[in-house]
Amino acid sequence: MLSKFRLFSILLLTCLGADAMAQEGVNSPSKNTSATDKYRVCWNADPTTKATIAWNQQSGKPGKVYFDTKDHGRDVKKYAESQKIDRVQKYDGMKNCFIRLSGLKPDTPYYFCIEDETGISRRLSFHTAPVEPKPFTFIAGGDSRNFKDVRIAANMTCEKLRPLFIAFTGDMINKDEAPEWVEWLDDWQQVISKDGHVIPIVAHRGNHERRPETIHHHFDTPMDAFFAFSIGGELFRYYTLNSEIPATGAQEAWLDRDLAAYSKKTTHLVAGYHKPMRPHVSAKKEGDNPMAWADNFYKYGVDLSIESDSHVMKRTHPLKPDADGVEGFSTSLNDPKATVYIGEGCWGAPLRAADDGKPWTLDTESFNGIDWIQVSKDDIQVKTIKITNTARIEPARTLSSFEDPKGITLWEAKGGTVLTIPADR
Ligand SMILES: [Fe+2]
Repeated sequence: MLSKFRLFSILLLTCLGADAMAQEGVNSPSKNTSATDKYRVCWNADPTTKATIAWNQQSGKPGKVYFDTKDHGRDVKKYAESQKIDRVQKYDGMKNCFIRLSGLKPDTPYYFCIEDETGISRRLSFHTAPVEPKPFTFIAGGDSRNFKDVRIAANMTCEKLRPLFIAFTGDMINKDEAPEWVEWLDDWQQVISKDGHVIPIVAHRGNHERRPETIHHHFDTPMDAFFAFSIGGELFRYYTLNSEIPATGAQEAWLDRDLAAYSKKTTHLVAGYHKPMRPHVSAKKEGDNPMAWADNFYKYGVDLSIESDSHVMKRTHPLKPDADGVEGFSTSLNDPKATVYIGEGCWGAPLRAADDGKPWTLDTESFNGIDWIQVSKDDIQVKTIKITNTARIEPARTLSSFEDPKGITLWEAKGGTVLTIPADR
């Protein structure tokens, strides 16, 4: 016969078990009863107050987003705000749904779920950018087009480092066709942490995004995929440029206008685009189209430029355009107008030999890697992560931490592991 104590213990354990099961069940934040998948948060405009939530609607009508600065799990009734669909785009066999949130609070976590005819999605979250000039991190890289294992490992590395956003500088896929995009968007789910935190993507167009509308249709960027935004008030302005359309003409005119308006008051100016001006791979043609921006960069003092496409990693000295220099550039140390160039696209594309270094190259090497960048009042710091032993990297506990987690492997580049670009005086 069971003693009273044992009977009580069994009852207690049964109740606790049922509770745990309930937690894992209906209220589990990771459960998805909706017909939605392939989630992403896209930054295409002022990320201190705006964000676009995107997903694929597998069936039925597009869902509605419930959101709040407080976490209510999957209990949509408790969310303070909701918003209906802004844009539906059938493309590549998917039904891409976009909800453009605006009027958000800066530097604030937002929790959200999507409710559709079938049910409720997992509970996800993202963090808006600050308007205060506080330090933050972002990850930059591109060219994920061929090797799924490297692509996933790089995505998982991002998830572990919890940067404020990812600047993805093009060539997500190889053939710009449906099966590759379906797979790529599934792999992108690896940037979402177990607790549902989604790292926003700033999507750039590469030459493998052969259809001019691809980036617009998968990430809701402007059609021409060039735009700019600021973070931290006057701390930082980021230029998403499109090297696959003429760099001159409308794009250059816009760039010149925007830099004229922001360069004097902004501490750090950073640009990202796909094709490098001067590739560090000999088989690659010189990037005479993006080279058209070099004079604007120097005129307005763009501090850092992020390139992709060649499938090697590189860092340059601070450079200025120079007709008498090598390939149109020369080193210009302690020059507040000079630009440091990094890149060039190793997120899973076939690596190439780094066989085209210049006198103004700081270092170049061939390995799978992404750039991890911290922006603060004093400087921009760049660490380059080698995509290896991802499982061993200890996840960061806080957003925008720049401490090296256990298990990370950094590129010991010439000039030092950390590349520092001081703020202009
Ligand atoms: Fe490319």
